[in-house]
Amino acid sequence: MTSEVNSEQAEWWNAAGEGWAKAQAIVDLVLRPFEEVLAQKALERPRDRVLDVGCGTGAVTRAIADALGDGPECVGLDISRTMIAGAEQRGKVRFVVADAQVHTFDETFDLIVSRFGVMFFDDPVAAFRNLLRAATPGGELCFITWRTAEENPFMTTASQAAASLLPDAPPPDPNGPGPFSLADADSTRMLFEQSGWGGVVIEPVDRICTMPEKLLVPYLSNLGPIARALKLAEEPERVINDVRGAFDEFVHGDEVRMPAACWQITASVPL
Ligand SMILES: C[S@@+](CC[C@H](N)C(=O)[O-])C[C@H]1O[C@@H](n2cnc3c(N)ncnc32)[C@H](O)[C@@H]1O
Repeated sequence: MTSEVNSEQAEWWNAAGEGWAKAQAIVDLVLRPFEEVLAQKALERPRDRVLDVGCGTGAVTRAIADALGDGPECVGLDISRTMIAGAEQRGKVRFVVADAQVHTFDETFDLIVSRFGVMFFDDPVAAFRNLLRAATPGGELCFITWRTAEENPFMTTASQAAASLLPDAPPPDPNGPGPFSLADADSTRMLFEQSGWGGVVIEPVDRICTMPEKLLVPYLSNLGPIARALKLAEEPERVINDVRGAFDEFVHGDEVRMPAACWQITASVPL
């Protein structure tokens, strides 16, 4: 690793990474609709080298490598060593532990992608400018990020359930790094333009994420705000059964359906 400025986030994601790695197959299933959007983007034109920022356990990095076949190299980069420890390296897929905001890249990329991995920078303009430096002339980016909390009721239910477990925890800073930090399209466009990216397009992308009902409790226990709250609970199993009821509205027979309201942000290196 070169250096790290987002140390609070690094600590947060090192702790979260253990749960993500444990529940990797469930995460990959739930978030697959967005993996498909990014793999499709990668196939739009020939690629030499692709970077996946905030790659987590690497599902998108590997999916793009599989879609592109033998030629291009795919690099996944993440600040969390526990996430990267869960990322399976294979073929022309490589993973790096680094802070995307300040990492000095030894190579350049003609496509930079991310699925929910670019909302956690303390200085987003510096981070997106650093990624511009890592892009080849004519290179482009494609990021998937969350729209507002109100448009993503599954996420709100999870944070409310977590808050009920830890009533004394300070509320998250709505203006700081976090899942919804790029939800406002106008200010997000400005961030990318101030960073030097051109041709910024921000479009809604809505998908229904699904999983079998029997995976809901393992999902909630290992990921997101409830997993963090459970670490402090004295009887985690009893507590998770209590909060499970809050998710009834998303259960349809033996399937869980979570509507996800996101942005697809695309931009290119100005010529
Ligand atoms: C919500 S997870 C998404 C993981 C993965 N992209 C996926 O879709 O499965 C966000 C990821 O961003 C990473 N992250 C947060 N801040 C970062 C930074 N400054 N540099 C690199 N990665 C970062 C976290 O460690 C975490 O793995």
